[in-house]
Amino acid sequence: MRLAVIGTGYVGLTTGVCLAEIGHTVICVDNDKKKISLLKKNKVPIYEPGLEKILKKNVKSRRLSFAGNIKDAIKKSEVIFICVGTPPREDGSADLSYIENVAEEIAKNMDNYKLIVDKSTVPVETGEKVEITIKRNLKKNISFDVASNPEFLREGSAVYDTFNPDRVVIGVSSKRAEDILKKVYRPLKTQILVTDIKSAEIIKHASNSFLATKISFINAVANICERCGADVEKVAEGMGLDKRIGRSFLNAGIGFGGFCFPKDLEAFLWISKKLGYNFELLKNVKEINEKQKQHLVKKIEDTLWVIKGKTIGILGLAFKPNTDDMRFAPSIDIINSLQSEGARIKAYDSKAKERAKEILENVIYCSNPYEAAKGSDCLAILTEWDEVKKIDLKKIKKLMKHPIIIDGRNVFDPDKMKKMGFLYKSIGR
Ligand code: UGA
Repeated sequence: MRLAVIGTGYVGLTTGVCLAEIGHTVICVDNDKKKISLLKKNKVPIYEPGLEKILKKNVKSRRLSFAGNIKDAIKKSEVIFICVGTPPREDGSADLSYIENVAEEIAKNMDNYKLIVDKSTVPVETGEKVEITIKRNLKKNISFDVASNPEFLREGSAVYDTFNPDRVVIGVSSKRAEDILKKVYRPLKTQILVTDIKSAEIIKHASNSFLATKISFINAVANICERCGADVEKVAEGMGLDKRIGRSFLNAGIGFGGFCFPKDLEAFLWISKKLGYNFELLKNVKEINEKQKQHLVKKIEDTLWVIKGKTIGILGLAFKPNTDDMRFAPSIDIINSLQSEGARIKAYDSKAKERAKEILENVIYCSNPYEAAKGSDCLAILTEWDEVKKIDLKKIKKLMKHPIIIDGRNVFDPDKMKKMGFLYKSIGR
C-alpha cells in the first residue's frame, strides 16, 4: 500500500520505517530540513536501537523515502498518518496547531479519496476537529475518512514494540476506513481492536495515565517500605504474581519522565476538566512523582549532611535506558536541586550527554563511569543503563573520596554492597 507519514519524530520515524519493513511503500515527510537531509543520508537523528539498520535496508529496496514537501506525498498516498508533535502548553493542554496545519495541507493537496489517520497523542474529540478542518479547506467535494490509531511504542525499544504490539487500536467511523487500516496492519499478525474514534483517542491517554499511576503507586509503597524496613522489590514481586496486577511498571525509583507520561497526564487532566470532570487521582499521581525526585535529593542530603562544596558523581542522565532523550528526565530536577545547594556535579551518560548539554549548565561531563566516581563524595544512579549495572564496583570504590552510592533505580543488591564496604542507599528497601 502507498502510505505517507507526516512528522519524523520518535513515533513517525519508527512507524514509517517499520511500515516499509512489512511491505508498504512509505514516504516520510518533515518540514525540518536538517532532519530530512540527515535521513536522506541514511542517518537517524535520534538514538533508537535497531532503527538505522532497517531504515537503510528499506531505502535500498526503494520502499522508504524522505521528503521535505508534503504536497507530493499526499498526492501519491492512499493513507496519511499524522505523527506530528503535540507539545504541552503552559496550562497543560496539548498544542494542536501542528495537527491543524497538517490537516489544512492535506485538504488543500488531496485530489482523490484519502484515509487520514491520527497517530499523534491527542485529546479526545481531536478526530472531529480534524474532519471539520479538512472539510473546511477542501477545494472540491472529495470523499475522505479520518481515523485514530494511537501508538504504544516505548522509546528505546520502539522497533521491537512496533513489530510485537500487544494490540493495534483503530478508531474508525466507516467500514472503508476499518478495512484499509486492517490491511495496513495485517502483516503484523496481531490483535486489532476496532473502536469508534473517541474511544481510541481515550485509550491512549488512559493507558499512559494508568501506567504512570502504577509507577506512582509503587513509589508511594516504597516510601512505606522505607519507613518500616520492608523491601519494595519483594512487595512488587508479590503483587505482580497476581495476573490481575502484573509485575511490569512496578519498579520503584525516582519517578517517571520522558516526553509522554508527564505531558499526557497533564493533557488528560486538562481534557477531563474541560469535559466537567475533576480527575483527582491523576493529580495525586503527578504530585507523588514530583516528590519522588526530591526524595532522592533528600537521601543525598541526609547522607552527606552539607551539600555545599561536595562533589557528586551522576551515573545516567536520560529519562530511562536505551535512549538519548532528556525531555522531562528526573535527572534535570535532581541535578538542579543539588546545584542550587552548592554541589559540584560530574556526570556520565554515553548516549544522552549531548542532549544534556543543551539543558544542564555547569556540569562536568565525564567519558566513563570511573571518571565520574573519581574523587566524588557520593555517586547517584539516575538511569539503569546496562553499562551502569556492569560497572567494576571494586574500582569505583577505590576511586571515590568516600564509598557512598545513592541508587535511584535499585540496580544493586543492598547486602552485597554493604559487604563490599559501600554506604549504599536505594529506593524502598
Ligand atoms: C510510554 C509508554 O510506555 C508507551 O506505551 C507509549 O507509547 C509512550 O509512552 C508514548 O506515549 O509515546 P516511554 O515514555 O518511551 O513510553 O517510556 P516508558 O518505558 O514507559 O518509561 C516512562 C518512564 O517511567 C521512565 O522515566 C521510566 O524510568 C519510568 N518507569 C517505568 C518507572 O519509574 N518504573 C517502571 O516500573 C517503569
